[in-house]
Amino acid sequence: MCGIVGYLGMKQAAPMLVSGLKRLEYRGYDSFGIATIGSSLVSAKKCGRISESDGYAASLEGRMGIGHTRWATHGVPNDVNSHPHLDCTGSIAIVHNGIIENYSVLRRHLEGRGHHFASETDTEVIVHIIEEYYTGDLLEAVKKTLPHLEGSYAILAIAENDPRIIAAREASPLVLGIGDGEWFAASDMTPLLDYTQQVVFLEDGDIAALSPDGICVFHEGVEVSRSAERIEWDIEAAKKGGFAHFMLKEIFEQPKVFYDSVSAAIDPATIRAIQDAGGLMVVACGTSYHAALIFRYLIEQLCQIPVRVELASEFKYFTPPMQDLVIAVTQSGETADTIAALKMAKAHNCGTLGITNVLGSSVTRVADHIVYTQAGPEISVAATKSFIAQIAVFLNLINNLCDRQYDEVLHTVHQAIETVLLEDISVAAEYCKRAHDIFFIGRGVMYPAALEGALKMKEITYIHAEGYAAGELKHGPFSLLSPETPVVALCTPGDSYAVMLSNIKEVKARGAPVIGIGREGDRELAEVADVMISVPPTHPLTDIVTTSVVLQLLAYHTANALGRDIDKPRNLAKSVTVE
Ligand code: AGP
Repeated sequence: MCGIVGYLGMKQAAPMLVSGLKRLEYRGYDSFGIATIGSSLVSAKKCGRISESDGYAASLEGRMGIGHTRWATHGVPNDVNSHPHLDCTGSIAIVHNGIIENYSVLRRHLEGRGHHFASETDTEVIVHIIEEYYTGDLLEAVKKTLPHLEGSYAILAIAENDPRIIAAREASPLVLGIGDGEWFAASDMTPLLDYTQQVVFLEDGDIAALSPDGICVFHEGVEVSRSAERIEWDIEAAKKGGFAHFMLKEIFEQPKVFYDSVSAAIDPATIRAIQDAGGLMVVACGTSYHAALIFRYLIEQLCQIPVRVELASEFKYFTPPMQDLVIAVTQSGETADTIAALKMAKAHNCGTLGITNVLGSSVTRVADHIVYTQAGPEISVAATKSFIAQIAVFLNLINNLCDRQYDEVLHTVHQAIETVLLEDISVAAEYCKRAHDIFFIGRGVMYPAALEGALKMKEITYIHAEGYAAGELKHGPFSLLSPETPVVALCTPGDSYAVMLSNIKEVKARGAPVIGIGREGDRELAEVADVMISVPPTHPLTDIVTTSVVLQLLAYHTANALGRDIDKPRNLAKSVTVE
């Protein structure tokens, strides 16, 4: 959830750290800080966003340093709770992403030994334990500290009189970058792309020392070799490229993202694992969960393969009966609940498949099989192109299971997305902008699309929105309908078309305005809806994709009209690495 970054090389570290933190800010953005070592250890930290206030931090002296952008868990966002945290002497500094579950016991013990704590964070215990062990060798001190910690961490530590950055990971992502005479560490590769494409993904339990001589990695006390991998992501893909927001840019990238993800070759062993499984279960959170629900409707209909879909956040405490193959869907590959669910499935001897967008992410280290979505870096907190890429991967899997009978149609979907991107959404956005509540309704595969439309709307506009199976509105929510409660109805042709039209008329009869999303040329829908947004008249399989893109645009334009902070909505973070 937080972002951490480290730099060691010939340049001044502070500007490098500040630029790295700006790239990582989507992981958390309530406060930030950096520490560098020049003639001594100096630090600067502040509540607020680094993109709005970086002057002082960027001027710190030194050619090595660490930085952090925070998403608060323990202690409110303020200057003191921001990272880095320092030991009592002010000569050791750490930044941390994760949660130290036994911090209160550790804190009491350390306070008993005379340590002074400045913040309310769980993180601060780590630096005081390091202080206990530090006798001039930071690597040894960190090695002795880690066994005391319970929970998850990615840590970077520096100390005066030690020329190294020490990095350690346990259940939190951490990647090292190898530049030309310079070394980097970060929560993910986006801050590294400006300087290098050579990266080393650390494993859980690894401790690494970055020094002017290179990188050494240790695991269970022994030095190990971790090979460098080349990242093909392009730095331009992580920039706004003329768009007002990352979200809009990412929405507009979807024709290519869909095409690439639906066309990518899938390892035949993965297809066999699905074919051979007696039962399938998919675990995911948020938008990825909605993609999984769409998968269930599609695979059950097209392949007659039954699938259970479970919220990963419920899985650990209310474990359902296990299935032969458990599929984890996570764009970041780091969502703590999803990773925990997958690990539980493995412990039950289930086969596991991960669907993710991020090479080297945690899910790739746990799952037996991996399929990558081809979305490229997604910076906006709201998932858009990663969602469309997940649907594309699911359709790709289904196409492979069905002897590629959908090849032709799947290779035209990107053109339909291009058409949808030209739709004028402004009138519908005007209706939504004035609302306090919005309902999204659909049937069949359009029901999870409605859930996702509502999630996107509330996430970035802060307007309350709910997704409903269209037939369920009359079982309670009708009491909420009024002229101030727009209903977005997903009404493309199919078995439920006629009953959807009846549902829309019921809504209209109760005074609520209807925004209908349906096929171009659908006069019946156009007559009953107050506003109609059209998707191109193509194949039924295409409708789920084009309708989803319309819903993303509707949320975007509504949020824009309201002047919201679209790429960094309040209280959220892109990568949810805590339970
Ligand atoms: C949606 O816009 C959100 N960013 C969120 O619901 C997200 O999909 C969820 O946190 C799961 O993330 P993951 O795909 O990285 O596991």
